[in-house]
Amino acid sequence: MIARTNGRPISITGLGCHVPDRVVTNDELANYVDTNDEWIVERTGIRERRIAADDEALTDICLPAARRALELAGAEPSSIDLLIVATVTPDMAFPSSSALIADALGMPDAAAFDLSAGCTGFVYAIAQAHGMLAAGLAKKALVVGGDVLSSILDWSDRSTVVLFGDGAGAVVMEPVERGGFLGFELGADGGGGSNLWLPGSGSRRFDEPDKYVKMNGREVFRFATRVMVSSAEAILGECGKAVDDVDVYVPHQANVRIIDHAARKLGIPEEKTVVNVHKYGNTSSGSIPLALADAADDGRLEPGKLVLLTGMGAGLTWGSALIDWTHSTTGAAA
Ligand code: ACO
Repeated sequence: MIARTNGRPISITGLGCHVPDRVVTNDELANYVDTNDEWIVERTGIRERRIAADDEALTDICLPAARRALELAGAEPSSIDLLIVATVTPDMAFPSSSALIADALGMPDAAAFDLSAGCTGFVYAIAQAHGMLAAGLAKKALVVGGDVLSSILDWSDRSTVVLFGDGAGAVVMEPVERGGFLGFELGADGGGGSNLWLPGSGSRRFDEPDKYVKMNGREVFRFATRVMVSSAEAILGECGKAVDDVDVYVPHQANVRIIDHAARKLGIPEEKTVVNVHKYGNTSSGSIPLALADAADDGRLEPGKLVLLTGMGAGLTWGSALIDWTHSTTGAAA
């Protein structure tokens, strides 16, 4: 799906993030699996990640992020009539984490549902919210992206455990005077799904069900380097923008090598590319809002900037959004 927006201007008016307190360094991981700091930094750029406590579930991490986004937007929880939570690690299959968050925050009028699109979940969710706001079905939306991937990792598998971390981000979206979202490009290829999957997690019966993430790292790497470029080029073309017009590039934070490859191929210079994978690892649906918040706090994400978001992940899925940024969101970082 690719489209430039053609309805009312809709933008992000608030942003917030949260990560668990516990920092796990590469050296600590080397106590659990046969790995080392040098390998992890060289192959991924990751130095540390945050890991949820045993009694911390997804909604515990999403709630502070959501509260911060509401605060920066100056929005009362009761004014939210749409809440979407993008995640692959909800507290439980049902009730949805969105219903639990709506209840905890006091959003009696909100339609609330969870959305599953792997690490691309946040981009899918803002596109979904945009569509409902533009159609007049909702007036003010809260979109949360977050994951507790540590809960579905095999802590004896060095090929996955070094890559991921826990975290969440949230945005408030609503109609504005001008600017905001210019377009979206979203895609999915279930044929590549088994390169990154959790086979024992649903109604499909497997001979040897597995409770943990299984990944073909090389295939995902190949897929990622391809779609991070093609998706960004497609949305820029659709919206009549050139690469040089982009002020802030916020790629999904999976691996610094994937980010560097995409930025180089696209021709986006280092100073425009937001990278925080070294301190959080891959936080799945939390990754893009966490990077947006860091860009806001280091002064790069100002009103009037053209912002390109591109994500990719399980599904396999990918997606981009182009935004004429309208509101200051300084103070959003975790
Ligand atoms: N520590 C030390 N050595 C390791 C580790 C580790 N943690 N993991 C693998 N190795 C070894 C391998 O066994 C291999 O050894 P060998 O040569 O003796 O066989 C060697 O290191 C090289 O392994 P490769 O798999 O070839 O390493 P590569 O350079 O491809 O990097 C990586 C692996 C980092 C996983 C890379 O393929 C990657 O980033 N893939 C994309 C993963 C990703 O982004 N997934 C998330 C997608 S988003 C979502 O939806 C969740």
